[in-house]
Amino acid sequence: MKLWGGRFTKPTNELVDEYTASISFDQKLAVYDIQGSLAHVEMLKECSIIPEKDAVTIANGLHSVAEKIKNGEAVMSEENEDIHMNIEKLLIEEIGPVGGKLHTGRSRNDQVALDMRLYLRAALVEISQLLLDVQKALHKQARENLDTVLPGYTHLQRAQPVLFAHHMMAYVFMFQRDMERISDSWKRVNQSPLGAGALAGTTFPIDRQYVAEKLHFDGICENSLDAVSDRDFVVEFLSNASLISVHLSRLCEEFVQWSSAEFNFIELDDAFCTGSSMMPQKKNPDVAELVRGKTGRVYGHLMGMLTTLKGLPLAYNKDMQEDKEGMFDTVDTLKGALGLFAPMIETMDVKKDNMYQAVAKDYSNATDLADYLVGKDMPFRESHAVVGQVVLHCINHNKYLMDLSVEEFQQFSPLIGRDIYDFLAPEAVVNARNVAGGTAKNRVEEQLAVARQLFQIN
Ligand code: ARG
Repeated sequence: MKLWGGRFTKPTNELVDEYTASISFDQKLAVYDIQGSLAHVEMLKECSIIPEKDAVTIANGLHSVAEKIKNGEAVMSEENEDIHMNIEKLLIEEIGPVGGKLHTGRSRNDQVALDMRLYLRAALVEISQLLLDVQKALHKQARENLDTVLPGYTHLQRAQPVLFAHHMMAYVFMFQRDMERISDSWKRVNQSPLGAGALAGTTFPIDRQYVAEKLHFDGICENSLDAVSDRDFVVEFLSNASLISVHLSRLCEEFVQWSSAEFNFIELDDAFCTGSSMMPQKKNPDVAELVRGKTGRVYGHLMGMLTTLKGLPLAYNKDMQEDKEGMFDTVDTLKGALGLFAPMIETMDVKKDNMYQAVAKDYSNATDLADYLVGKDMPFRESHAVVGQVVLHCINHNKYLMDLSVEEFQQFSPLIGRDIYDFLAPEAVVNARNVAGGTAKNRVEEQLAVARQLFQIN
């Protein structure tokens, strides 16, 4: 007989059992469900809602059930629909009818909301740790590449040279915003819905605060209707996860491009690449591609959840059972990607010479020539036009700015002197951008120091 079978005269259609059950995926909540039940039963005892001896029996029973689940000895069934009822059944099997007292003053509606929050809380801790590892790996590459110059791009056209360290640090700060978003979301995740009952609260003299404190929540959800129908914290997580995925995906794209023969700026370690079953020469950046590809499923889960919630009347609706798979999959997807990224970044080979040659053989110092003329009191608009002519001349004569003689320069402007070469060399161009946040070495060192403070490392 079903736990709720009292008012039914017929068994459920088998297809309905299969269709409505969530046990195939909500088993992930088992440990949190038991953790929540242990706090609940303790509270029931403290508030003298159930006798102490029953509370002790139930708590012991829950520990045995937890042990059995852990050892794979517990049999979960679709008939018992979800993790909550499966555990309750297992408990009753374990300790007898007294197990039926556990659900006093509680509904699966507040129970599942609690489990989701406990699960997410643990996931956020793990994800932040993995994100920090990625930031540290980027920071390490930055430290080791404070003298590595590469072309900086806009429109994927070479624009101005930057330090590779500067480029790595851009991602450190991107991921820092993700960290901040996660930690800000914490205060909304970390509220206890337990005690909201099915929707309206409960007739028992429970102590919601007690349970919240036992489970290390910051407080309780203030309104019982909201407590059981709120899944904003899931949406917020999926949204934050989407931004993390955007950032990872952009970095993936750079890794894929940089490791192509066309760029040849980095080589990813063999341990993070795969080969082709047909072309013996291939070494493919599969991890970077797949992380980029999996961004799609994370966005999909965000859209899915928003759409599921849209138009749901208060309070709980079965639709909300659809909150789980997307959240679980997003957590797993992020953990998978972040876990691979830190070592992949740390072990990549940065081809400094190739990067430098790319800068030496382009016109990305053209702005510096224009700025040089501004230093000789030429209005910038004018110097921009003059340098445009110089670049055109170079293109037509298969030369770069550094290849021109002073005489050639002076055909375009008599203001250009012998000192011009000191302004156009890649290092000079980089170090001239000595503005807060700029690419000059000392400015990038400042960024490294800011990040060290954020990571609380020396
Ligand atoms: N498995 C359900 C879910 O995940 C638990 C809550 C069910 N509540 C109910 N009244 N049917 O949403």
